[in-house]
Amino acid sequence: MAVLHILHYPDPRLHTVAKPVSEVNEKIRALVKDMAQTMYEAPGIGLAATQVNIHQQIIVIDLSDERDQLQVFINPKLVWASEEKKVWQEGCLSVPDFYDEVLRPAEVKVQALDIDGKEFEIHADGLMAVCIQHEMDHLKGKVFVEYLSSLKRMRIAGKLKKKTKAGVI
Ligand code: NI
Repeated sequence: MAVLHILHYPDPRLHTVAKPVSEVNEKIRALVKDMAQTMYEAPGIGLAATQVNIHQQIIVIDLSDERDQLQVFINPKLVWASEEKKVWQEGCLSVPDFYDEVLRPAEVKVQALDIDGKEFEIHADGLMAVCIQHEMDHLKGKVFVEYLSSLKRMRIAGKLKKKTKAGVI
């Protein structure tokens, strides 16, 4: 297993659109393990392959306090979103130390493949709904700061560029 390098906003590679995984094989399972280790090490509650510069539709999430409830979503598809929306304070491993409010559907249904290539569906609400939508955005090349005003986004990009140059992130 390996800890992978996480890209930081405004790295243009974060805007790459991920391709579907054609077969859930040993290579994909090894990649999922590395992504999970990278997420736990960071530490974070979710990570999309895009963030480690791998442009395939893979997401790992673990919302548990014990960090032992890994959930894997391969080729996730949004099948339903509630009309009711909710604001959450979001953060992102690609945007370290910045948090801001994003408005999203409060509940979603998502279909995906698990680590064995088997299809499943979840009905998510609360933090899980936020997290899965945030990670699915990554696979589309979208970072949560794109929901914020351009002024805020520019300020964040400027600060993170300085930090990256200084080698502190
Ligand atoms: Ni993120």
